[in-house]
Amino acid sequence: MGSAASLSSPLLLYSCLLLILIFSCLNAHFHFLPISSSVISTHKQVHKNGNLEKLEQGLARARAAINKAGRKNASFIPSGSIYRNPYAFHQSYTEMERRFKVWTYKEGEPPLFHMGRMKGIYSMEGHMIDALEDSHNQFVAADPAEAHAFFLPVGVAEIIHFLYTPRINYNRNHLHRVVADYVTVVANKYPFWNRSSGADHFFLACHDWGPDVSSANPELYKNFIRGLCNANVSEGFRPNRDVSLPEINVPPGLALGPPDLNKSPNNRTILAFFSGGAHGHVREKLFRHWKERDDEIQVHEYLPKNENYFELMSRSKYCLCPSGYEVASPRLIESMHAGCVPVIVSDGYALPFSDVLDWRRFSVHVPVERIAEIKKILKGIPMDVYLRKQKQVLKVKRHFVFNRPSQPYDLMHMILHSLWLRRLNVRLLT
Ligand SMILES: *[C@@H]1O[C@H](CO)[C@@H](O)[C@H](O)[C@H]1NC(C)=O
Ligand SMILES: *[C@@H]1O[C@H](CO)[C@@H](O)[C@H](O)[C@H]1NC(C)=O
Ligand SMILES: *[C@@H]1O[C@H](CO)[C@@H](O)[C@H](O)[C@H]1NC(C)=O
Ligand SMILES: *[C@@H]1O[C@H](CO)[C@@H](O)[C@H](O)[C@H]1NC(C)=O
Repeated sequence: MGSAASLSSPLLLYSCLLLILIFSCLNAHFHFLPISSSVISTHKQVHKNGNLEKLEQGLARARAAINKAGRKNASFIPSGSIYRNPYAFHQSYTEMERRFKVWTYKEGEPPLFHMGRMKGIYSMEGHMIDALEDSHNQFVAADPAEAHAFFLPVGVAEIIHFLYTPRINYNRNHLHRVVADYVTVVANKYPFWNRSSGADHFFLACHDWGPDVSSANPELYKNFIRGLCNANVSEGFRPNRDVSLPEINVPPGLALGPPDLNKSPNNRTILAFFSGGAHGHVREKLFRHWKERDDEIQVHEYLPKNENYFELMSRSKYCLCPSGYEVASPRLIESMHAGCVPVIVSDGYALPFSDVLDWRRFSVHVPVERIAEIKKILKGIPMDVYLRKQKQVLKVKRHFVFNRPSQPYDLMHMILHSLWLRRLNVRLLT
């Protein structure tokens, strides 16, 4: 009945082989990238399960093809590439398109389930729920028996909006209980949760409280895949099991993302730019050192009325993306759309898609303790290195473009690909 998730060494070895190829971390000094991974496999299913066996055979073929593609040309990395291993990635993406099916549980009622924000900074959550419930989506399973992964359509931002009453009570028990109850309902009703102890199940949350949901009950969510904007490894984000969701600020009106405002590097007269609220300790420190103090490092809390935020980004060589109340910032996507090299000012941020993208190629990382040295660090980057990074920003942007419906290799498909990789790393015994 109950399933025991445990480590099984042959599988562990097998999967590590795959992980080395896909997640190979070429340079360990970029410290917030995943370096190694653990794998769980689940023993159980006393009775024969034909469907699962078929699914697992399909996944095994996908792993073999990705391994092969990765090996074929593992020593060849095109110079200036934005990918860790372009061949393994391409093969993995192709396999995902060919096979990956996701089942979204139907239980639960809006607004706490099946619904999320479609505008603002929490909207990645809402749009993913919407897309994964769209029967025209090629990745949506027609039947749970054919699904590789199971989505819990909980709207974390909505639950907080409707159930959190700060004046009465600051604790987050409501949030914990709603999600845990949902797991109990689907685990009682269907065999899927118990079959994998949740290892092929995921939820997606952009609200900074996302990580909190599972920390309330570590045992229940031990194997669960969490898609989080707040991908802070110090708050328990596990780079090899969890998925780092990019944060996007969907503006009011029809546009889905920031404007595309590329300018040639020659016309970028500002060395570095930031404008935003004094949210959290990282920005406090940034403001202490740089707010309205320097012509080259332009750091503002509020912009003068006649200035345009996106225009200023497009006139800057570097755009500062400091963590706010949480590690993620919509500036990552905004700066890419403005052709501005992102400067990630954060500690412990597991960057989105970093299992396939080599962020060192198109960004700069400044640890929080070196905020005072930002100018020195950026001025120390030779012009040819800057020009290369800027070119790579324009190349990598395609993976951060938000389309509805989603298009190949765009933002939503990359999120799915992150989920697909996490699912590939788990093998369920049949
Ligand atoms: C790897 O692939 C590239 C591009 O397809 C090719 O130019 C190169 O010769 C290949 N290298 C090896 C070792 O097969
Ligand atoms: C899954 O496991 C739980 C806890 O052991 C149990 O109560 C539940 O009935 C199981 N679900 C199914 C569908 O067997
Ligand atoms: C730079 O900007 C000026 C004025 O906006 C424009 O006329 C010119 O074409 C731009 N140059 C480049 C290389 O983009
Ligand atoms: C990341 O998590 C740590 C530990 O909870 C916390 O101290 C830090 O402030 C977090 N970072 C951000 C930017 O929220």
